[in-house]
Amino acid sequence: AATTVYEAERAARTDAAVESNHLGFTGTGFVNYDNTIGSSLSFTVHAAVAGGHALTFRFANGTGADRSLDVVVNGTPHAISFPSTGSWTAWATRTLRVNLKHGTNVVRATATTAEGGPNLDSLSVDNGVTAPSPSD
Ligand code: GCU
Repeated sequence: AATTVYEAERAARTDAAVESNHLGFTGTGFVNYDNTIGSSLSFTVHAAVAGGHALTFRFANGTGADRSLDVVVNGTPHAISFPSTGSWTAWATRTLRVNLKHGTNVVRATATTAEGGPNLDSLSVDNGVTAPSPSD
C-alpha cells in the first residue's frame, strides 16, 4: 500500500528538539526527545479511508537499552518500544497497526521513562487500501 511520510521535524513538539548532527535522517533533521518522562511529538495525519493502518516510525537508538513511547491515536494508547540500533546514525523502523478514522487524526508519541524517546526521523502512514488480487 502507498504511504505518506510525516517528517518528525514538522510535528508539534513538547520537550523535544530538532537536530541534524547524526546523519542518515530524511528531510531536514530528526527530533531528539529530551531525556525526561512526558517529552512528546504530536502528528496530525490524514486518512482517506477509515480502518486499519500501519504507522511506521523511523528511529535511531544509540544506547544499549530500549526506549519506549506511548502512542496515543485519537485517545487510544498503544505501547511501542524501540530497541538499540547500535549507534545514533543507524536508523531502523518499527510498525504499529492502529485504527484511523476518515479525515484528520492525532497521533501523539510520548516518552514514558526518564530516558525519553529514541531519536525520531519520521512517521509513515499507509493508505489503508489493499489492492484486490487479479482474480477478484
Ligand atoms: C546523545 C545523542 C542524542 C540523543 C541522546 C539520548 O546525546 O547525541 O542524539 O538524543 O544521546 O540519549 O537521547
